[in-house]
Amino acid sequence: MRYFIGNWKMFGVPKSVNILNKINSYYSRDKNRNKYRVVITPPYTLIESYSRYFKNKRILIGSQNCYQKEQFSSNTAAISPYMLKSVGAKYTLVGHSDNRGEGDTDLMLKDKVRYALNNNLKVVFCIGENKIEKKNKKTLSVLTRQLTKVLEKKFNRNNIIVAYEPIWSIGTGKIPTAHELKKTTIHIKKVLKRIFKKTSPAVLYGGSVDGSNIEMFKEIKEIDGFLIGGASKTSKKFIDIIKNYYR
Ligand code: PGA
Repeated sequence: MRYFIGNWKMFGVPKSVNILNKINSYYSRDKNRNKYRVVITPPYTLIESYSRYFKNKRILIGSQNCYQKEQFSSNTAAISPYMLKSVGAKYTLVGHSDNRGEGDTDLMLKDKVRYALNNNLKVVFCIGENKIEKKNKKTLSVLTRQLTKVLEKKFNRNNIIVAYEPIWSIGTGKIPTAHELKKTTIHIKKVLKRIFKKTSPAVLYGGSVDGSNIEMFKEIKEIDGFLIGGASKTSKKFIDIIKNYYR
């Protein structure tokens, strides 16, 4: 199974559903549709209405984050995994670099993953090195640390997906070389196998993915799909990625 996950970040109002409608109608007719899954993570404000709208359609709706407590608590503006599940979210991102940058620690991320899984959300756990770490050749050790500090053998690995997003690549148009990316992805899968003592969960790539560079990414068979920011906000750009992936 391949994944094309669109992360809208701070984008979208109710009528933006038109973008998803177009993606959904392409998806529903695509002869390759059973080979992949499309998940979109709109902002919190749209999760309930979009989940209801796409309930019997193909696109799945997820959240971009969740709070590190399970159900209800007195944390102003916080949204728990239980609350997300109750309005129809099927997935949640955890640990996006935007949120790590705003203070999410490994300890918080571990609780987010745990409580999201407890509430039957599938977790897309994001990891990635920054520019300086890459320059200092610390990429693999940073990724190992990010994975081992948060993921545990007792977590249900069938509901976990890992997204490798080098921070220097997000929204910049810069991407790793095919050689680098293959090596990094193999490393991530090796670490995951060690953590879970079983085969690795799916590993996605994210960072400036678009309809033209997907040709390069699709050659790397170890990559199970993509987390797509900028190019998920336009139906044509998102559909082009899927089209060119299966061409
Ligand atoms: P981008 O964002 O595709 O715009 O680089 C990816 C992400 O942050 O998930």
